[in-house]
Amino acid sequence: MKKTYILAIDTSCDDTSVAVLRNDNVLSTVIASQEEIHQPWGGVFPRLARRAHIENIDATIELALKKAQLKEWSKIDAIAVTYGPGLAPCLEVGLLKAKELSEKHNKPLIPINHMEGHILSPFLRNSNGKYYINNLPQVHYPLIALTVSGGHTDLVWMEGVGNYRILGETLDDAAGEAFDKIARMMELGFPGGPILEEIGAKGDPSKIDLPLPMAKKPNYHFSYSGLKTACLYLIRDLKEEHQENFPSLIPDICASAQEAIVDSLLLKLKRACRNMPPSLVVIVGGVSANKRLRLKARKILKKLNIPVAFPEKKFCTDNAAMIGLAGYHRFQRGEFLEDFSGVDRSPSITIEKANGFVFGE
Ligand code: KG4
Ligand code: ZN
Repeated sequence: MKKTYILAIDTSCDDTSVAVLRNDNVLSTVIASQEEIHQPWGGVFPRLARRAHIENIDATIELALKKAQLKEWSKIDAIAVTYGPGLAPCLEVGLLKAKELSEKHNKPLIPINHMEGHILSPFLRNSNGKYYINNLPQVHYPLIALTVSGGHTDLVWMEGVGNYRILGETLDDAAGEAFDKIARMMELGFPGGPILEEIGAKGDPSKIDLPLPMAKKPNYHFSYSGLKTACLYLIRDLKEEHQENFPSLIPDICASAQEAIVDSLLLKLKRACRNMPPSLVVIVGGVSANKRLRLKARKILKKLNIPVAFPEKKFCTDNAAMIGLAGYHRFQRGEFLEDFSGVDRSPSITIEKANGFVFGE
C-alpha cells in the first residue's frame, strides 16, 4: 500500500517544532527551543515567543525535510498543523506558514487539535517502524487519557480518533502550571516541573503537610489554586522561621508539592477507572514525564488490572511528531482540506471540538 508522508508543524506555545512522518513512523523531528528566551521571565512571554517562531520556522522546516532525506516536496502528501489550543500569536505563525506551503506546493491541509496529538503521542514509531516504548500495550478503546501539561489537566474518555468526551478538567490552574508557579516561589527556575522533580527526589514528602487538592469532591475535576496559596504561605512562614537555613528545606517542600500534585491527579484517574473501566489508560503531556507520577500510576493501574501507556520522554512535551501522527490518522479517514481559507487559529478550543471533522471554536 502507498505510504503517506506528512509534514507537521506545531507552534502552539514556546517551541517551534516540525516533523516529517511516513505513516506513523517519525522520519525527522526538529525543535527550535525558546527555553533560554523565556527563562528570565519565569514563564512564556507570548510576544517574544511569536517573534522567535517567525525567526525560526523556515530553517526548522528546511532542517526537518533534510533530516527526513526528502529532497523534493512532491513526496509530501499533506501538511498537518496545530490550530489550537495554545497562544493565539504563536498558533498564527504555524498556521499561516502551513497555509502558505499548502498553497505553494498544492498540498492538502490537516488542521489538528494539539490535545489530540498529545493523546496519540505514546503510539509513535521510529523510522524503523518500531514503537519508541518497549512493551507498549495495544491500543484498545475505550481509553481514558489523563492529559497533563502546562495549559491542560483533563480526564478524557476516548472511543477512537475523533471521538472524545471530557470527564473532568481543571477549574483553575493546570498541573504543569502548578509545578511552574511553586518552583517560581522558591526562585528555582523555569520550567518548574523537571526542576522541582529533580530537587524533590532528594527530599521527603512526609516531612511537610500540604493539602490534597479536590480530594473530597465527588467528581473528576482538578484544582490547584488552593495548593498554590498553601505553598505561598508555607514558604513565607518557613523563610521567616529558618532564615538563612531555609534552602535546606527546599528539597522537602519540592517533594511534598510534587506528591500533592501527583496524588490529586491519580485520585481522580482512579475514581474514573473504577466507575467506568477503560481498556487502556494513557497519561500524556509535559507532566507525564514525571517519574513519581509514572511510578504511582503504574502501581494503581496494576491493581485495577488496566494497562497504561506513557509517551517516550521526548514526546511528553510539545512536539510536531504527535501532530503528524494525528494528521496521519485524519488523512487515512479522508479528513483533510483542499480549501482551507476558513480555518483560523482557535486558542481555547477543547478536545471535544476534535469530534468529527469540524474546525472552529
Ligand atoms: O505539554 P507541554 O510541553 O506544554 C504545554 O502544552 O503546556 O507541558 C509543559 C509543562 C510545564 O509546565 C512543565 O513544568 C511540565 O510540563 N513538565 C513537568 C516535567 N517535565 C515537564 N512537570 C513535572 N515533572 C516533569 N518531569
Ligand atoms: Zn502541549
